Amino acid sequence: MLHDPNRVYVFDTTLRDGEQVPGCQLTTPEKIEIAKELELLGVDIIEAGFPVSSPGDFQSVVEISKAVKEPTVCALTRANKGDIDAAVASLQYAKRPRIHTGIGSSDMHIKHKFNSTREEILERAVEAVKYAKKSVEDIEFYAEDAGRADVVYLAQMVEAVIAAGATVVNIPDTNGYCLPDQYGAKIKFLKENVKNIDKAIISVHCHNDLGLATANSIAGLQNGARQIEGTINGIGERAGNTSIEEVVMILKTHQTLGLHTNIDSKKFYELSQMIRTQMRMPVQPNKAIVGANAFAHSSGIHQDGFLKMRENYEIIRPEDVGFPSATIVLTARSGRHALKFHLERLGYTLDKEELAFVYNNFLTLADSKLDINDQDLQGLMAHRLVKN
Ligand code: KIV
Ligand code: ZN
Repeated sequence: MLHDPNRVYVFDTTLRDGEQVPGCQLTTPEKIEIAKELELLGVDIIEAGFPVSSPGDFQSVVEISKAVKEPTVCALTRANKGDIDAAVASLQYAKRPRIHTGIGSSDMHIKHKFNSTREEILERAVEAVKYAKKSVEDIEFYAEDAGRADVVYLAQMVEAVIAAGATVVNIPDTNGYCLPDQYGAKIKFLKENVKNIDKAIISVHCHNDLGLATANSIAGLQNGARQIEGTINGIGERAGNTSIEEVVMILKTHQTLGLHTNIDSKKFYELSQMIRTQMRMPVQPNKAIVGANAFAHSSGIHQDGFLKMRENYEIIRPEDVGFPSATIVLTARSGRHALKFHLERLGYTLDKEELAFVYNNFLTLADSKLDINDQDLQGLMAHRLVKN
């Protein structure tokens, strides 16, 4: 079968990078439940854990491998034999196993984390890939802190690990440092200067320390990467990882990018709620795509425009991400049009004069309350009937 050059593979690391967040730890049954939902969502790869880190994580990778059929199941390792042996053992039941091994690639990490040299680190990277390849065919290599790495050295490392058998090369912006054009240029450089790059897929793995994870991931895709790594709700270390729902909806909304995934976006909202509950990590109300306010229109100008034609203020339909529906929130900033819309929804039809009278009372009430609910509206209408 011919490889589709415009297909973007989605690598979910909610259960690994996401689960590293303090307070977000999950039990194995909870991880299995989430993994099954990720399979239904259509992710291509599930990073199920870091098996050497604890017996519980090891067992989770074993059980997830048994529970899912379609996605590749991936286990994280550092570049050493002990980690790789544990990962191989944990993946024994996986239909499509992948080992994700790697090492630091920036001078900062080489000197101050490994107290080593570029040459030695390159050797360790190649050894790890070769060792993992003896047991598992699909090997992803991560060049940790690639965002801050010297691009020529990075290219050398990428070329060497592909020659050693890596099928995917992950270029993480581990510290969320890069600007989108810098990150995009890095991917472009690898695409143009690594001579065996066509033998592997370039993956983007961005962190959100400067709020640029999604923008950087898109820049990577625009410059030739074809795998994106992220989490649901963008959870992850510090400021989090790239939010999968954001990247997928950007690709859907901007068809001119010419890229597509296998994701069923209608499942996003439900899965987001599930992750929020199980991981005890609230979703900020203004979070793109899945936040409580993502489809809530509250100012009079927007409400009026939205009620005339939803596309005036909506670039994504709520139903496309499984969101219950768009909402017109009634506050002191709402106009007559929004009030009329809600009153009609409750079965009241008012002429212009009546609406003006109720609207005045509504404004007085709305100034003293955060938002107005159906009961408040019914109260306003009862008051109008008494006056008449
Ligand atoms: O952010 C990072 O560099 C990682 C690697 C382990 C892939 O999570
Ligand atoms: Zn990460």
